[in-house]
Amino acid sequence: MSQPTIESILQEKRLFQPPAEFSQNAHIKSLDEYQQLYDKAKANPEQFWAELAEKELHWFQKWDTVLDWQPPFAKWFVGGKINISYNCLDRHLTTWRRNKAALIWEGEPGDSRTLTYAQLHREVCQFANVLKQLGVQKGDRVGIYMPMIPEAAIAMLACARIGAPHTVVFGGFSAEALRDRLIDGEAKLVITADGGWRKDAIVALKDEVDKALDNDAVPTIENVLVVKRTSQNIHMEPGRDHWWHDLQQGVSADCPAEPMDSEDMLFILYTSGSTGKPKGVVHTTGGYNLYTHITLKWAFDLQDTDVYWCTADVGWITGHSYIVYGPLSNGATTLMYEGAPRASNPGALWEVVEKYGVNIFYTAPTAIRAFIKMGEHHPKARNLSSLRLLGTVGEPINPEAWMWYYRVIGGGRCPVVDTWWQTETGGFMITPLPGAIPTKPGSATFPFPGILTDIVDLEGNSVEDNQGGYLVVKHPWPGMMRTVYGDPDRFRRTYWEHIQPKDGQYLYFAGDGARKDEDGYFWVMGRVDDVINVAGHRLGTMEIESALVSHPAVAEAAVVGTPDELKGEDVFAFVTLESDYEASDELEKELKAHVVKEIGAIARPGRIRFTDGMPKTRSGKIMRRLLRNLASGQEVVGDTSTLEDRSVLDKLRGGA
Ligand code: WT7
Repeated sequence: MSQPTIESILQEKRLFQPPAEFSQNAHIKSLDEYQQLYDKAKANPEQFWAELAEKELHWFQKWDTVLDWQPPFAKWFVGGKINISYNCLDRHLTTWRRNKAALIWEGEPGDSRTLTYAQLHREVCQFANVLKQLGVQKGDRVGIYMPMIPEAAIAMLACARIGAPHTVVFGGFSAEALRDRLIDGEAKLVITADGGWRKDAIVALKDEVDKALDNDAVPTIENVLVVKRTSQNIHMEPGRDHWWHDLQQGVSADCPAEPMDSEDMLFILYTSGSTGKPKGVVHTTGGYNLYTHITLKWAFDLQDTDVYWCTADVGWITGHSYIVYGPLSNGATTLMYEGAPRASNPGALWEVVEKYGVNIFYTAPTAIRAFIKMGEHHPKARNLSSLRLLGTVGEPINPEAWMWYYRVIGGGRCPVVDTWWQTETGGFMITPLPGAIPTKPGSATFPFPGILTDIVDLEGNSVEDNQGGYLVVKHPWPGMMRTVYGDPDRFRRTYWEHIQPKDGQYLYFAGDGARKDEDGYFWVMGRVDDVINVAGHRLGTMEIESALVSHPAVAEAAVVGTPDELKGEDVFAFVTLESDYEASDELEKELKAHVVKEIGAIARPGRIRFTDGMPKTRSGKIMRRLLRNLASGQEVVGDTSTLEDRSVLDKLRGGA
């Protein structure tokens, strides 16, 4: 079992004090200092954020109003003019950072490249001019479907520079998933590559783009830009497709950053929920810039000399906030890695740490569990003494993985920073500040200053210590999502209506269950909705069900998560077939492949169980709780009296 259970957590009494030497040099040096900051921010959040915005960022023009809150819609730094690409690049060029490494890229197989701030700025400006020449204007949406190469970051920053919101689609998503997102976002242009490296193989990204755009399926698309990465033969559609390097030839590197309204849209990023298609989470410019900047600086205690490495993909929010925008806004050196941990290269990541002297390392519990399985002799074979801080994100970290990370990778000297947050929150919400807050393995500890979190019941009442409840945020924050793209009503329904306080207050509900212990530490337990977390990837069970049902053999499908030692959860699908189809191993394989085609490999069911019927209530609702029990081999517990037909359950239990 990888998720911490109540029992294991209640037994978890270890407390790790920040190392004295670490605290001395940290941005936030003591629990007292954290407490003072927290209290100050709580007493006057607007003043707290305004002071930071003034101090930490460059504004072309200052705002008139710090916060305009028309629940559930927030606007931050209204009237302010800002450009995040300017904050990430231009402002560093007049300092010693001009020739500092901005981006270190470690590619596969064996490629690498380092761009200084001056070089990155030049490339971003040139590419921004390429976009302009292709007719991309402020407000136009640009799709990015790329491998982990520097051009992905360059493309994002170039879009931000000219005010064209990007929508990055993870390169592991299929053509179908890409098409849905490009249609929803009404993208004018897509940036991709001929291919990308993923686990020893080439992913044919351009082929997927061709399939997605087939038959003019995305009518808003005018051009496709292709980076040459893997050099295999690909189709180039005349008039539509262009090579990045051709267009970049001889283009001017002079492209001043467009002064954007603080509330202008910076990007859309799609994420799964419990209902319907993935939703386009909208983030805007000023608040997001400030929030990613300050959370990274304080929670990872980012210093100017640090080499910082986040192993996420730019296709997820972690890549947006903490590979690209947060680090560069701080003038840090950010490392981007094309590879992924896998059995065929068990020591590769530690080689990278040694090669570049990485100081801050940020990864996911699922990766840590994979490292544990590959054996500690791999990290031990490398010099990891440069590391001074370890971060984790994506799912609750089991105390065993936490301890291994701390002991084997951190050598017992690096604070472990467990960051709880989401695509929707823009940046860290609950996290230790490593020089200030003693940590407990498995707990993300305390909310960031300015973030008012609580554990409540359905009416918004705080629950007692150690009682489980819903994790909510009680006051708007600069990095919060602003809306669901094109569907403000869905934004309201999804996040603001589950918890209904009697006094009409608006509470942001994250979809997670959690508890607070007697010392005020937060313990996130996981999703309480129909969202599952497979290897740190968020999937809606309904999306996978829709994918299954779109196959002609499938009459009905119900998907649940089952505990998985490595991935945290795995996809388990119950399927009933149309009458003229019969269950077989071949069909099982075919259905798995079908899900991969519809969504991508991350959604491939680990198991499919064919059944004659689903356990349903008399009103026809599938009783997922029972299916979850069955799928994980547990006793079916709780009330089954509302079942319409008990024999369905008996048959499923019988294992037939
Ligand atoms: C969901 C958000 C934020 C970047 C990665 C995932 C789970 C995330 C933690 C953590 C316990 C966590 C939650 C959350 N989650 N971090 N440190 N401890 N759970 O972003 O795809 O938007 O998923 O991931 O369930 O709601 P995402």
